[in-house]
Order: sequence, then C-alpha cells, then structure tokens
Amino acid sequence: MTMEKRSFDTLIVGAGGGGLRAALQLSQADARVAVVSKVFPTRSHTVAAQGGVNAALANVSPDNWHWHMFDTVKGSDYLGDQDAIEYMCRAAPRAVYELEHFGVPFSRLDSGKIYQRAFGGQSRNFGGEQAVRTCAAADRTGHAILHSLYQQNIRARTHFFDEYFAVDLVQNQQGYFLGAVAMDIASGEPILIEAKTTILATGGVGQLFRTNTNALVNTGDGMAMALRAGIPLQDMEFFQFHPTGIAGKGMLITEGARGEGGYLLNGDGERFMERYAPNARDLASRDVVSRAIATEVREGRGVGPNGDHVLLKLDHLGSDIVKKRLPGIRDMVMTFLHIDPAETPIPVYPTAHYTMGGIPTNRHGQVVVPVQQGAEEPVPGLYAVGECACVSVHGANRLGGNSLLDILVFGRAAANHVIRHLKEQRYHQPLPEDASEPAMQRLARWNREGKGESIAGLRIALAKTMEEHCGVFRNQDVLREGQEKVLALRERLAEAYIDDHSQVFNTARIEAMELENLVDTALATVSSALAREESRGAHSRIDFPERDDQHWLKHSLFSLEDLKMDYKPVRIKPLTVESFPPKKRTY
Ligand code: FUM
Repeated sequence: MTMEKRSFDTLIVGAGGGGLRAALQLSQADARVAVVSKVFPTRSHTVAAQGGVNAALANVSPDNWHWHMFDTVKGSDYLGDQDAIEYMCRAAPRAVYELEHFGVPFSRLDSGKIYQRAFGGQSRNFGGEQAVRTCAAADRTGHAILHSLYQQNIRARTHFFDEYFAVDLVQNQQGYFLGAVAMDIASGEPILIEAKTTILATGGVGQLFRTNTNALVNTGDGMAMALRAGIPLQDMEFFQFHPTGIAGKGMLITEGARGEGGYLLNGDGERFMERYAPNARDLASRDVVSRAIATEVREGRGVGPNGDHVLLKLDHLGSDIVKKRLPGIRDMVMTFLHIDPAETPIPVYPTAHYTMGGIPTNRHGQVVVPVQQGAEEPVPGLYAVGECACVSVHGANRLGGNSLLDILVFGRAAANHVIRHLKEQRYHQPLPEDASEPAMQRLARWNREGKGESIAGLRIALAKTMEEHCGVFRNQDVLREGQEKVLALRERLAEAYIDDHSQVFNTARIEAMELENLVDTALATVSSALAREESRGAHSRIDFPERDDQHWLKHSLFSLEDLKMDYKPVRIKPLTVESFPPKKRTY
C-alpha cells in the first residue's frame, strides 16, 4: 500500500496546552512543526481546566517560588523529583506573564494586577498561613489559555493536522524515533509524518474510570504508544481523584469554589474537614479531602436518599461572587442539576481527574529509560510533556493549579531543548523501508471483517472494573482481582471485531484503537497499584496504611512485556537549594 509522507523538523502529537506551548516556541524559532490532533485543537482537554495556574506573583499576599516549591514537594508526598519541582516553581511567574502577553484575559484585582485565588495545599513560609497563588480567568482559565495559544500558533504558522489519529510511533533499528503514522479520521487514509524529533503531548487517561472529569478523548494514546514501543510507564499507581465532582455524574466543580470560601458539609450538617485537616480544612491537599469525603460516606454520614455524597456550600458567598468568580460552575450546575449554587449546596463526590504517572522524562522533556542501577539515558528523538509525561513534579499527589503550570513550563523547556538539538541535527535520519509496519498492522487489524463483542460494551466493562478495583481506597485482593479482570478484557478485545464495515464510520476504528490504549494503561495502573505496598499521596492501601520511606521512596516503572515492575530512585536533590527531606504530612 502506498502512503502519503510528509516531513517536518518536529512532530507534536496532541494539541492541548503542553503541545501548543511547545509548538509555539518551536515555530517562533523557525522550526517546521506539525501538530497532530484527533480533535480540533481548541477542543483538547486543557479547555476544561477551571480554577487556575499557580505562580508566586504575590499579587494578593506575600509569596515566593521557594514556598511554592515546598508545598509542591509536600503535596507530592515526597515522591516528586525536586530538581524538576524547583525548575517549575521558579519558572512559574515568567510562564504566567508570557500568557498575559499572548492575550490571556486573566481576571483582575482592583489594582489591575492578575487576580489570584487560594487553592488547596498551598502555604506561606513553608507550611504557615494559606497562600493565595492561583492565577485565574474566572473559572474558565484553561479555555482562555488554550484559545490564546492556538491563536498564537496560527500566527506563527504552525502546521496542524486536525482530526488525525496517531496510530503508532516510528523508529529505526537503533531505537531512534522518527515520527509517527497517523490516520485521517475523515477519509481513513494513513499518513507517515517523518520528523527529526517527536513530542508526545496527548494528555492523561481519565477515561479509565466511569466517573471522571475528563474529555472523552483522554484515552492515554501517547502513554500506550510509548508502552508498545518498549518504554515503561512511571508511577501509574498514582491517580488523582478530585474531591468535588458532581455526585453520580463526575463533572468538575473547581477547587476554586472552596478557594472563594465554599466549604463541605456531611449528612449531619457538620464541616467535617475540621476533623481531618484542622489547619487547612477544606483547602487541604486533594488526596486528603477525597479520602475524607469517601470516609464520611462509608461511615454513614453521607447526604441524600442513598447517603452517597456530601454537599459543597456556596450560598453564603452571595450571588455576586458566585456570578463573577464562578460563572461556569453556576451555568453547569443549573444545566445539569437544575439548582442555583448561589442558593442551594451542590451534591459532590470524588471523581477521577488526573494521571500523576506517565512517560518518564527529565526536566528537558526528553523521554528517559533506565540503563543500569540508578542511571538512565534519553531515548533519541523522543520527548513527552504535560499529563502524558511524568517529569515528575507531582509525585504521588498533584496540587491544584500545578497542571496548567506543568504544561506551560515543560512545553517550553522541551521545545528549547529540541531547538538546540535541531541545530546539531540538520538532516533527517534515514527512514527504514519497514518503519511504519507495526502501525500499518494495527490499522489493518481494525479493517478486518468479523463478528465479535461490541467495543462500546468492553469499554464500559473496563471503566467499571477500574472504578470498582482501583478507586480511592485499595487493597491487595481487590487490586489482584482487578488486574485479572483487565487481563481478561484485553484477551476479549483481541478477539473483537467491528461488525459490518459498510455501516460504520472511521470513528468506530478510532474507538477500537482508543480502547486498546485504555486497556494497556489500565493494566499499567492496576499492576503498579498492586505492587506498591504502602500508602502515599493518592495511592491509599487499606492493607498498608502507612507511608514507608525505607522501602518505597522510589518511582515505579511498568513494562508491558511480562507485566514487569522495576523501580528507580527519586531525585531528591534540587538545582540550587537544600532538599526538603520526607516528613510526616499534615494539613
Ligand atoms: O479544581 C480545579 O479547578 C482543577 C484544577 C486543577 O486540576 O489543577
């Protein structure tokens, strides 16, 4: 089969904030950049980010990047790599001012400075009073950022392949990555996009869980492509459950709602967070608040006929604040629950939100693999940024407001590294004749006629399995059973077909390939969770309730081959300051 081929300096897979920030930096440096996105770029999941982006601007209260760094290390339950965290927190103010110059319409204080709100797990002076650090455009910050980045990319002449699905990476025998094969969703035609460097920026994998805050497109495509290419995934056991999803539905109610003064109530009308986090209360770290809500419900203090949620109270803020600072939340709650949150508390429960793990990288965005005990080296030609990557600035638990920061800082850092690399690597590596063979086989597999189980049914079964077996609280038996179920689903998917090809759109093929990606990332998640016999951050094992730094202060690495688990040390040493050694974590 002949296939169209295009050549670029850099291929970026994914058009969320990480991909677009990298693309902009590269295009402005006159690199030839292609962005492949399975949805129109401004529909990427960054558009859904609500509450804001962290930067120690000190517009509302005293602040500095070192306090931000401390909070991020503590929030990560000491699993975050402190060199990358220092780099990110120092770079944060510049990243926000850059956005302002790109045209992001931040909300403003009366002084005209960028508006900042309080978010969870953030303090002044290394654990003191609440910090006010999260820069916001009302509760539509991601929307404002993504649209501005897209417009700047159009201006910089970035080339977009809109509605193309990346099937697999392409590499040579020496393991040098040379681009990817993608499928034009409208025509079904494959295209080989050859590149001197490839950046994966495909986002997280929230679609693993039935109740989640994520876009339907968040199916872990980049992570699964990396796994298939033999790259292990790091720290996949750490999946963040956001405390406040709309109960039973999962849509995000921003932490900004609590940052503006909202608080949680149980079925007895009690502000229960005072018991779990006496100082930070409702603005404790997300893992702490999610466990508290799940515990209240499990112990019979939930709200509603089934006692299966708690309430988020905002009515005391007054309708002016709700309308001005939380207009998107108000719209959403009125649309889906037919109540006005300025008058009636919102039913909430933890909902799957963010993948802390992902493709291992260094702080230049280079994908890295272990070579021998404790050492690792970059994979030639391959980078990853944003939620699909694990750099690791979030460790075992991410702070709210640090994900937009992560994509901006490391999108830019990866692009700068690529720009240096392109100066040395002026020509394309020769592309082997059979380089696109694995991707073509994958496409051909979903063009075969046959009768089998429905793809949609298998996807529902997977999400149910992950919700039941890999949720907020875990234990060995439940995880082991979950792993067996995911393996069984993987076998069933291998026997599945798309029925009656004359009747289906290419989207059916995309859904099948997305499910393959989901199944492999599910396996990584549940297997890594089964292996880690301690509780740390978002990974809470009822059978191992304590954090165990002696045995488990290390990153996990999951490989598809034989479901192998490996480990590597945490980078405790920051770039210029003293390390923050592990301490008992209280809020
Ligand atoms: O609650 C929120 O607005 C979510 C922010 C985040 O995940 O960083």
